[in-house]
Formats: sequence, structure tokens, C-alpha cells
Amino acid sequence: MKIVQSPQEMQRRALELKRAGKTIGFVPTMGFLHEGHLSLMKAARAQCDVLVVSIFVNPTQFGPNEDLDAYPRDFERDEALCNSVGVDYLFYPEPATMYADDASVWVDEERLSGVLCGASRPGHFRGVCTVVSKLFNLVLPDLSVFGEKDAQQLRIIERMVRDLNFPVQIVRGPIVREPDGLAMSSRNKYLTEEQRRNALCLRRSLDRAEAMVKAGEHDVRVLRGEMEHLIADVPDGVIDYVSFVDDVSLEPVERVDGRVLLALAVKIGSTRLIDNTVLVA
Ligand code: PAF
Repeated sequence: MKIVQSPQEMQRRALELKRAGKTIGFVPTMGFLHEGHLSLMKAARAQCDVLVVSIFVNPTQFGPNEDLDAYPRDFERDEALCNSVGVDYLFYPEPATMYADDASVWVDEERLSGVLCGASRPGHFRGVCTVVSKLFNLVLPDLSVFGEKDAQQLRIIERMVRDLNFPVQIVRGPIVREPDGLAMSSRNKYLTEEQRRNALCLRRSLDRAEAMVKAGEHDVRVLRGEMEHLIADVPDGVIDYVSFVDDVSLEPVERVDGRVLLALAVKIGSTRLIDNTVLVA
């Protein structure tokens, strides 16, 4: 596995690979890797000649009061994990080399970004779309795998690729969960033992809504009420949102008919966790 730090070198190598007729699979990450990331890498590995992974804690997608500085980092461990799944190039740029001091061009999605996480994290998806565009221009992937845990991010990236004609296929990677159901996330590391137990309320409330829909309850007010009730039982749990939205437009719905994305964000102590499922009725 080759570690590349310079953006220019990454792009030069990607161009060489393309000229040699190789297909490139790409998984962008912010590091502190877990099984969820590895599953995305394995999916890309299986479909391409060359696998590129980036590790970059992107400053432009963090708000002023968010956890940019505290975001967990462990490059040596990440490097070993990347090696273990057959990564060919690990792109690990310094923040100063990714953004010019006077950078003034941004990629902003205007329809899907204002709801769910975008409502409580203004500017977040502008940072994500901008850095992913930059990474696509440096890595030149044929295919890129994004996790379904970040459901809104995934849909926004798909929209960006469609609307800006990026020549890359976006592949959805299923959510990977701990044995007790907690969705894997680098931020789980912030949780104390007790908070870790309390964090199970996210999955529990999604399960409850799914079961109610299967049993014939389609009224979003009833479903949300039940979920909020379950989460309110947990000490330390504060709901940011529990949203039922159309799976494509992300517009709020009042009934579960067709494909509905049920997404939630809950703060457990100071750690904000997200999870989701797609309800089909
Ligand atoms: O999902 C993430 O880890 C980040 O948002 C991404 C896609 C790597 C962009 O910084």
C-alpha cells in the first residue's frame, strides 16, 4: 500500500492508472476506521482494479462549535486496517494542502441540504459536497462507495454526481451495526459505558416504528410519538430530530406510503448520533 500525501501526486498517479486502463474504486473517510468503513472498502475492492481510500478530517464540514479538534484520530491503526483489506493507495493530505487560504469556490446543494442534519448543521453539506468534489477530481474514481448510515449525505452526493455530471458511479454500502444494534460510528468512541447503553434507544425506536408500520400503523404523528416516548425514557438523551421524509425528495410526509426515509439524530450527553431506516408500505 502506498501512502500519498500530496494532492498533486494523488492526481498524477490517478491519471497514470486511468491511462493504463485500470478502474479505480474510492472510499472517502475521515479516519478512525471501523468495520463500517471496512465494509465499504471491501465492496469497492470487489468491483475495481485499484482501491483508493482517503483519510481527511475535512474542516469545512464542521461548524464553529462542533468537534473538529476533538474528532478521534489514529493514523497508525487506520493504516494497518487499510492494509488488511487490500487498499492500494491511502491518500492522507494535510489540511493546508487541500484548501488555498483564499479558496472561494464551493459546491452547494440547494434542495436536500436544508432538512434533517442540514437544519441543525448549517454549511455542513456545502463542506461535504466541496471536499467530495475535490477528492473526485484528485482520485478520478470510476466508482465510489458511501455508507447508508449517513443517509442524507448519500442522497446529496448522488444528486451532486447527477447534476454536475461527475463520471463516477455511487454505490450504497449498508449500515454496519454492533452486535447489540448500535450503528457503527467513529463518534461512538466519545460515549461512556452508560451512554453506550443509552445509545441503543436509537435502534430501539427505529425497530418499534418498523414493527408498527408492519402492523398497519401509517400515521407519522403516532409513529413519531411512540419513538419520542422511547427516547425520552433514556437519561441523557435529547432528540435533535425524528423525521419521516420522502426517500428521494427528503420532503416531510404525514403518512408512510411508498418509500419513506425515517431518520433521527439524538444527542447522548454531548455526542450527537444518527441512524435511519427506509420504511416501505
Ligand atoms: O462521511 C464522511 O466521513 C465524510 O463526510 C466524507 C464523505 C469523508 C467527506 O469528508
